[in-house]
Amino acid sequence: MKHSARTHLTKGYTFLRTSGRAVRFVAWALVIAFVLTAAGCSKKSATANANSDTITSSEEQTYTRNIIIGFSQIGAESAWRTCNTQSMQTAAAEAGIQLIYSNAEQKQENQIKAIRSFIVYQVDVIVFVPIVQDGWDNVLREAKEAHIPVIIIDRKIRTSDESLYAAYIGADHVEEGRKAARFLQEKYKDADKTLNIMELRGTDGSSVTDGRYQGFREILQNDNRFNIIYSETGDFLRSMGKELAEKILSENGTLQINGTPVDIIYSHNDSMTLGFLDVFEKYGIQGGKDVTIVSVDAEQAVIDALKNGQVNCVVECNPKTGPLVMEFVQRLANNRPIPKITRIEETVFTENDDLSNIEPRGY
Ligand code: AHR
Repeated sequence: MKHSARTHLTKGYTFLRTSGRAVRFVAWALVIAFVLTAAGCSKKSATANANSDTITSSEEQTYTRNIIIGFSQIGAESAWRTCNTQSMQTAAAEAGIQLIYSNAEQKQENQIKAIRSFIVYQVDVIVFVPIVQDGWDNVLREAKEAHIPVIIIDRKIRTSDESLYAAYIGADHVEEGRKAARFLQEKYKDADKTLNIMELRGTDGSSVTDGRYQGFREILQNDNRFNIIYSETGDFLRSMGKELAEKILSENGTLQINGTPVDIIYSHNDSMTLGFLDVFEKYGIQGGKDVTIVSVDAEQAVIDALKNGQVNCVVECNPKTGPLVMEFVQRLANNRPIPKITRIEETVFTENDDLSNIEPRGY
């Protein structure tokens, strides 16, 4: 995976070692109880690799001895998210790192509880995907006081104290919004008419939705042919995309908002796009032709829809951050610095490209 790192480095986190083991033992039952109940995921419990006392002798000695990560994931709202979880689990297993996985089922309160249980258990590193931007300072302060470094992945937090986390790894979601808008500018460069846009937002309050919302407007705001006539959240869910499409189409018969026909759909993720496509069939609407569709994620099903001409552009969002997270965790374990902010580089797939050689997406 390509990534770029800012030069800010985080150093000085010391892993808890033997003194923490006794506490861990006592706390283990509590954590298991939490992960199995709050997360409601009896089949999705921690992926563990217990015999991981690997010490490699090299110029600089590296070790993955008994490293334990507490990982709080948002849930399983999309194929993207499922792939992100799998990437973490596979990379941890391959690195010989024990991963305690907690599924928050779309609730911030479950994530906060999970993080607190990881602190009680004295994991070596906490990794989490913040479902929304605000409301993390208290629990992160608790982690800091317990000397447990926190790595934030995918979505960002809003805080006035940047020392509350060791690193952030994720995509530039503002840039994703810009990329979607730039495709439209290019596609319609010669158009001499108003182009009405329907926007399907992701989870409100999340940095990813804010970024995709802002970046899109940043590019189009000075071009008054583009007119965003409707913006609604579908919470990144296929079912909500379906519901919204069904509501609009059953009321009007055609894709229109208050009598104004929609020319373009800008969807913040592929799941919601697929929800719309599911309903289009029923109403005889041809995605990609009757209405231009720009989507974000680039999961296999939407790449296939792009190849079939049902979608016009897909902005990639890469969920496979697991290996990089494990690399950073190992660097922390060896008291080596890690970048404060690491951006994942991503591409764009459009109807104008040769799509014959796209590798299987894996999600
Ligand atoms: O935070 C990344 C977004 O969350 C992805 O675009 C979406 O599919 C996921 O659920």
